[in-house]
Amino acid sequence: MNKKRIKKNWIVPKGEPLTELDEKMLAMQEEGLLVPRRSMIKTPEQIEGIRRSGVINTGVLDAVAAEIKAGMTTGDIDRLVYDYTTSHGATPAPLHYEGFPKSVCVSINEVVCHGIPNDEEMILDGDIVNVDVTTIYNGYYSDASRMFVIGETTQEKQRLVDVAWDCLQLGAKAAKPFGRLGDIAGAITKYAHQNGYSVVRDLCGHGVGLAFHEDPDVDHYGRSGTGMVIVPGMVFTIEPMINMGTWEVFVDEEDGWTVVTEDELPSAQWEHTFVMTEHGLEVLSY
Ligand code: MF3
Ligand code: CO
Ligand code: CO
Repeated sequence: MNKKRIKKNWIVPKGEPLTELDEKMLAMQEEGLLVPRRSMIKTPEQIEGIRRSGVINTGVLDAVAAEIKAGMTTGDIDRLVYDYTTSHGATPAPLHYEGFPKSVCVSINEVVCHGIPNDEEMILDGDIVNVDVTTIYNGYYSDASRMFVIGETTQEKQRLVDVAWDCLQLGAKAAKPFGRLGDIAGAITKYAHQNGYSVVRDLCGHGVGLAFHEDPDVDHYGRSGTGMVIVPGMVFTIEPMINMGTWEVFVDEEDGWTVVTEDELPSAQWEHTFVMTEHGLEVLSY
């Protein structure tokens, strides 16, 4: 017999009455589908906490949007994020996270993500800049990033930024309650490739809310109809990194963080935090 072994994630403690959801998930996992652990489903109270964190996180990005311009350094963006976040009673999650030294990631042009702000790096006319903000408020985490086009850029870089935005929107639209995580990757991969771009494979979206990075991984490169079942109450990011050239990337050896495209062609990324509801994804931070 050739029975595929699937992790039995959905475990109901002995003696606990089965809810309707328990019965549905147990049946799906009997069919051989990979279902989430029950701990990946947030309570309404937890979702409310993440939503409030998300309001501040979005406010940080709005504050960056109002200020960012050519001639600023990435260090200026870091100070802006730190000041806004702390003055709203929140904490910037990146600061000291696994040794990350600053409050925000700022990633310019061929830098894919995890760029470290500093006082020497100037933001220039024509740059495409990703600012990735994560906020902890009352113990709850939210995570979002935007692209900023500085002054006049080239048509090619503008198109990359726009297609990356569409990838996030199409990925989010493809995610359905009791659909599959791979549906997100499938939609993103198809649209990126149609436009002549590649999808970064080495970094992914993630569960978020009670910690910075939680299970499950949310791939952006892959096939529809694969992967874990998405269940209402799951909170996660989608954050596709779309490259003009090759999908391959490397990590700067000196700082251990900065992710750069292998061919040093530009990359663009947008990120939202979402909660899955009975009707589809709802944005908690953008
Ligand atoms: N915000 C990034 C993400 O979207 C993670 C940054 S980790 C840091 O998952 F340490 F670089 F901040
Ligand atoms: Co982020
Ligand atoms: Co993230």
